[in-house]
Amino acid sequence: MQLGLSFVAGLIATSALVFAAPAPGVSEAIEIPLEKRSSLLHADSNVIDFQKVAAHVTSLRNKYQGTLNNFKVNTGAEHPLRRELPEELKKRATGTVALTDESEQLWHGNVVFGGQTIPIDFDTGSADLVVNRDAYTPGSSSTNTGRAWTAAYGDGTTARGTVYTDSFSIAGISASKVAIGRATTDFLNDANNQGIAGMSFPALSQFGSQYPPFFDSLINQKKVDQSVFTFTLKAGSGSTLFLGGVSGGSPSYSNVDTSNGFWQIPGRVNGISFESIQDTGTTVIVAPNSDAANLCNNVGGSTFTQDGSTYCAYTCSRPPKVSFTFGSFTKALSSATTSFGQTNDGRCVLSVIGGDVGVNAWVTGDSWLQNVRATFNRSTRQVGFTSQ
Ligand SMILES: *[C@@H]1O[C@H](CO)[C@@H](O)[C@H](O)[C@H]1NC(C)=O
Repeated sequence: MQLGLSFVAGLIATSALVFAAPAPGVSEAIEIPLEKRSSLLHADSNVIDFQKVAAHVTSLRNKYQGTLNNFKVNTGAEHPLRRELPEELKKRATGTVALTDESEQLWHGNVVFGGQTIPIDFDTGSADLVVNRDAYTPGSSSTNTGRAWTAAYGDGTTARGTVYTDSFSIAGISASKVAIGRATTDFLNDANNQGIAGMSFPALSQFGSQYPPFFDSLINQKKVDQSVFTFTLKAGSGSTLFLGGVSGGSPSYSNVDTSNGFWQIPGRVNGISFESIQDTGTTVIVAPNSDAANLCNNVGGSTFTQDGSTYCAYTCSRPPKVSFTFGSFTKALSSATTSFGQTNDGRCVLSVIGGDVGVNAWVTGDSWLQNVRATFNRSTRQVGFTSQ
């Protein structure tokens, strides 16, 4: 096949464009290079910027509140994982955290709508594809569906817009009439990152069943041989999203709870059982506060609280073993991912933090995903892992 990846020079300047040979029997599997540009640290330092972390947790809370609401609209039922937020968090979610570029915490690559290349974040924790106003100008190939959407973002402001459909391509795979939510504003404040492409199940979508998520359009239009995608997220360069198959060995699978629209699987860490949402849109691992405190005690760390979140500090020279099990797959966090930064006084902070995002589950983000190759199979509704 023709590998016609549109590429805006400079946008993904440091990522090499590497195309894997198609896996045997997978004619339309394609690899999209991803890049992540920043962290939760102060500039040029390994000291954690706790305001950035707080803003990230707030944006997650807003995202999850939005997806849970979408689920209720779509199914008529309260989301099974929904947890009532305390009053003060409901308030905080509407605007006291400074505007932070939450988009910088995510993984982005390029998509093309109506011939226009848009750098976008791929997010397995949500379902809709929405972009800044200036990233996409409707043209002769686009259709205005008249359908409106709204979503809350990191600072509690609301983005809103209209759903269009347009010709679409991603790394040479083309599809027609793919839904794109064009905002009325530029709600993501980052030139290198102009939108969010949700890759969860359609039950979490706000656009409605007529306007499915982009991967569903690729499946429905038979553009991928398998309804499967694989994220290989690395701490350094070389992260990829592979559409249509597995790039690498045969994964060890867990069944997804199909009742709720997330990529949710049961897990265990150091003997603590939990439900896990596999979310590429989360930088660390966010657990309910009590679970995070339990894990911290379990590994001999000391907890501290900041802006309503629970953190676990330990002596950097003695990193704890934090071992996750999903199904028959067990993997301890690497030394690079056990901690995401240090305190002012030089203690390491565990990548599992406690925060209330309004769901009874752990949000296992990059600090976990950077240890594995994660394969998401829509047909079998399974998530599988191999070691990186
Ligand atoms: C995904 O599920 C389908 C349907 O059972 C199966 O045929 C396919 O082999 C699976 N793909 C991977 C990569 O596991």
